[in-house]
Amino acid sequence: MPAESPVDLGGHALIEDASLRTRNTLRVQARAKLLAEVRDIAALPKLFAWPAVKNMRALVLGEGSNVLFTGDFDGLVVTPKMRGIEITGEDERAARLRIAAGEAWNDVVRWSLARGLCGLENLSLIPGSAGTAPVQNIGAYGVELDEFVHAVEAFDLREQRPTIFARSDCAFAYRDSRFKREPDRWLITALELELPKSREPVLGYAGVRDELEAMRVQGRPTPMQVAEAVVRLRTRKLPDPALIPNAGSFFKNPVIARGHAETLKRAHPALPLWPSGDAQAKLSAAWLIEAAGFKGVREGDAGISERHALVLVNHGAATGAQLWALAQRVREGVRARFDVALEPEPRIIGAHDRNLPA
Ligand code: FAD
Ligand code: EPU
Repeated sequence: MPAESPVDLGGHALIEDASLRTRNTLRVQARAKLLAEVRDIAALPKLFAWPAVKNMRALVLGEGSNVLFTGDFDGLVVTPKMRGIEITGEDERAARLRIAAGEAWNDVVRWSLARGLCGLENLSLIPGSAGTAPVQNIGAYGVELDEFVHAVEAFDLREQRPTIFARSDCAFAYRDSRFKREPDRWLITALELELPKSREPVLGYAGVRDELEAMRVQGRPTPMQVAEAVVRLRTRKLPDPALIPNAGSFFKNPVIARGHAETLKRAHPALPLWPSGDAQAKLSAAWLIEAAGFKGVREGDAGISERHALVLVNHGAATGAQLWALAQRVREGVRARFDVALEPEPRIIGAHDRNLPA
């Protein structure tokens, strides 16, 4: 089979020795031994029963906006391409949606807002597939996905059968879920959301009210207006991956013991800090990285964005290993200066095929 020419096997297309460069938003060069684009859930058992695939390691890849390849992937990359958004139930208060994994997340947001459903407006413009959204329980501007999840449909790659998780079985937390904790076990095939027809807008996150004021919105904003404010804020704050390749926040905001956080706050009064439960506090990783002197640094083509200190960028031809080496220097710098451990947000895939312990 010649490289890069897909072979259609009915329900999925297979590519041998596939380049992953255009399939990750850091635009890192890496190759997969085999890549399957799956358009039909019914084709999954057939794909995994295929002799060439049977004992291969599998990696599910959406739009590649939360991964860093530090080397090639010697296995099968599976990309869900199933499409479709449908309303499966509705009353005067809310509607239930079933969204196939291959839909783009931002299209789901726009689709729901156009039909008078609300809740997703603060999650506008987050890159990636709908099927990936539960993996790290995407969140932004004071809202997290799990609030709206009714169920997650998945294919169990170990047992080779479909399964459905109720929201309470997904172990959702800040940038976390059972799907993130059990990598390569679940292939999410669809997402079921329950969206209200009316709700109090969430405007408490820094900058949202100011942006609405700049848009001359008076009184209670509509969900569409909140979405526009979020789009404007995000466009200004974050580098566009189409112009400067990146994976969004490269580290999670660290959650540490309240006592340690208060000691840091006394020494650095400008440090942004939010209470997290009774005994912990969440710190701004961007602030820590900027204060440790890394904002805008560049080592060859690997860099930290000048616009936002939490964003690792590829200025052109950086390899995954070079980006990872810079990320580790940032991590060591922050630990040395503040005694705080930063944990990567994206999945690291390749020679360094694991996330660091906290
Ligand atoms: P991928 O990068 O393809 O995959 C991410 C992980 O999920 C991998 O471990 C992969 O194996 C697994 N995975 C992918 N699809 C499936 C599936 N169907 N079933 C099971 N596992 C799967 N995130 C936020 O939460 N909030 C933000 O505000 C935000 N802003 C961003 C801004 C920018 C500019 C960028 C580049 C990224 C941002 N992100 C943000 C991160 C990213 O957009 C999300 O994590 C998104 O959900 C990733 O989707 P993806 O399809 O690109 O995932
Ligand atoms: N800050 C700095 N330097 C910078 C940028 C920010 O010091 O260069 C400080 C500022 O004090 C600012 C604070 O950090 O007030 C927070 O910044 P921002 O509002 O940009 O949010 P963030 O904590 O950096 C998080 C998410 C983003 C999400 C935004 C908005 C994480 C790891 N990141 O970023 O998600 O879009 O909040 O809710 O939680 C992602 O996950 O990829 C992502 C982009």
